[in-house]
Amino acid sequence: MSSSYPLPTHANPSPQNQPVKRHHSARYYAHRVRESLATRVSKLVCSIFLFFLFLIGVITFILWLSLRPHRPRFHIHEFSIPAIAQGNGFENAQIDFNVTARNPNRAIGIFYDAMHISVTYDDQGIGATSLLYPFYQGPKNTTVLAGSLSGATLTVTNQRWQQFLADRSQGRVIFKLDVTSTIRFKISSWDSKHHTLHANCPVGVGPDGTILPEYKDKRCPVYFS
Ligand SMILES: *[C@@H]1O[C@H](CO)[C@@H](O)[C@H](O)[C@H]1NC(C)=O
Ligand SMILES: *[C@@H]1O[C@H](CO)[C@@H](O)[C@H](O)[C@H]1NC(C)=O
Repeated sequence: MSSSYPLPTHANPSPQNQPVKRHHSARYYAHRVRESLATRVSKLVCSIFLFFLFLIGVITFILWLSLRPHRPRFHIHEFSIPAIAQGNGFENAQIDFNVTARNPNRAIGIFYDAMHISVTYDDQGIGATSLLYPFYQGPKNTTVLAGSLSGATLTVTNQRWQQFLADRSQGRVIFKLDVTSTIRFKISSWDSKHHTLHANCPVGVGPDGTILPEYKDKRCPVYFS
């Protein structure tokens, strides 16, 4: 067909060019469609990815809120120096105390190194002792730290004893009991780093040498250093 009409091939380039051009355009548009489809798919994949990232972030945040370790809670229940009631004989004086440490966490255990208990009066140490061997405290468990200071662990001088007696005549002698320990949180099989814990329990005793009601069962502030 084309051989019998050589003229159109030469003189009329447009009919030949036109289909070619249209063919190019069709391929071009198909390419454009493919490209925009690819863009849309990659946008979708991107949004799905971002959505899951967001979801993981929210879940992690909620887990962190519910699993983050809370510091142990300390309460002072008993504290007495019976010798104060007698007025003399500080050489045989003894301090009895009972403090509890509670792990308030639902899923986190606490490892304690040996506990150090010290008693101060007017910011001066008057006695110290160490309690318990390192121990593990399970979730929601309470440990009683009870003991006494006397003899070598109680270092009261006669001068300080006279101050106690002077305070007693005013109605109360104020001490401070400090608990120091190094703890580690145990979350599942993961152990946290060591934290040095301090619990400060202010405590007052009355003229009879026993804890005053307003100090009994009080929560002691806890801080880390
Ligand atoms: C210490 O106090 C706690 C809480 O009141 C009590 O359950 C515990 O029996 C006391 N322990 C001693 C040895 O006094
Ligand atoms: C607390 O710890 C003690 C000693 O390990 C254990 O005998 C007791 O069952 C524990 N209590 C709870 C409520 O986990």
